[in-house]
Amino acid sequence: MGPNDDCFLVPGPVRMNQACLEALSTPTITARGNEFRDVMARLNSGLRHAFNLTPSLGERKNESWSGDDGYKVVVVSGSGTAAMEMVMANRFRPNDRVLVPTNGKFGERLAEMGSRFCIVKHLKYEWGRTFDFGEIEEQLARGNWEALAICHNETSSGITQDAVELAEMCQRHGVSFILDGITSVGGLPVHPQEWDAEAIVVGAQKCTAGPSGIAAIAVNQHFIDRCIAIRNQDDSNPTYYLDIIPALKKGDDDQTPWTPAINAAMGWAEALEFLKEEGLEERWNRCSKMAKGVRKLFLELGFELLADEYSRSSTVTAIMYPDGIDDSWRTRLKDEYNTQVIGAQDHLKGKMFRIGSMGETPIVEMIEGCKRMISCFRDCGLELPEIDVEPFFE
Ligand SMILES: Cc1ncc(COP(=O)(O)O)c(C=O)c1O
Repeated sequence: MGPNDDCFLVPGPVRMNQACLEALSTPTITARGNEFRDVMARLNSGLRHAFNLTPSLGERKNESWSGDDGYKVVVVSGSGTAAMEMVMANRFRPNDRVLVPTNGKFGERLAEMGSRFCIVKHLKYEWGRTFDFGEIEEQLARGNWEALAICHNETSSGITQDAVELAEMCQRHGVSFILDGITSVGGLPVHPQEWDAEAIVVGAQKCTAGPSGIAAIAVNQHFIDRCIAIRNQDDSNPTYYLDIIPALKKGDDDQTPWTPAINAAMGWAEALEFLKEEGLEERWNRCSKMAKGVRKLFLELGFELLADEYSRSSTVTAIMYPDGIDDSWRTRLKDEYNTQVIGAQDHLKGKMFRIGSMGETPIVEMIEGCKRMISCFRDCGLELPEIDVEPFFE
């Protein structure tokens, strides 16, 4: 990593590797031939690995989206939000009740989106604070809930929810468990089967380092059965492009109902191949090592982190600006140090910044990026102790 190389440390979209970029520029193929079926079979196989599911069962036209665990992966031409909307719109009826605890922007969006398709009770906690598990358990115990839906890794506040605890609660109370895994799948431990998760969504441009504008959902048989039953009862929510029934019908044949994002699918398949080569646990470990290093380093320097101590994310760290620093620091960091991190959203805008530790980012890039951040803070007038950055990432 040279002094002139750029450091791109945002929590998605992340940098794509050369093989992915080349696949994105593959000359056009048709959407309905065997060539594209082969792309889908590779993509499905890579997705099953990223979702931590059992290996893909088949080759082209032979159930590549399924495995021995009963889960299927459904590719969606659209960003993560489209895939999340596909889940909420198809899985629930207007009178179904869904509990949505939140502690950041994306959870809040999920609650808002869900309320267009079902009855959402939004348990709104402060950004970065751990959920009140007692309150959630109490709510679930009252009965009458169809599902608990969460944003697993809250990118806006750098917090990861305790999915194991929540999954157990769902099992105790017989409710379905739905997750926005957009910045967790491929970046930190996700166990759909153990959690009995009914649906979990991933966005390509985050931890799997694929292109923007394509996403996927892992769904279990109960999810599929409920969507079909709801449609047959004729009280389903209105959908067309995001109707999951045609997507389920086409899946076995490695096809999609509408023209798919063909080149994005090719690029993503390539990025997922790279994830296979690295190994899923190895990637989780690398992300965790980078996030731990960032946390320890900035705490040592005297900064405050937004998220509660035991819930801090391995793929994004939210760090408060000290007094006297604002987002003009980020502009200088980009212009003068060729280094990008991201700012905050909503009420925290200008008050903190976020460092992504996801995708294929090498540890040396994170180390170099942190050194530049420290230099840039000093340029902005902040007095910081002399510190050796490397040991924080060993
Ligand atoms: C946790 C989470 N959920 C949802 C989204 C929205 O995804 P997309 O922008 O791919 O629609 C994001 C994007 O940053 C996210 O981080």
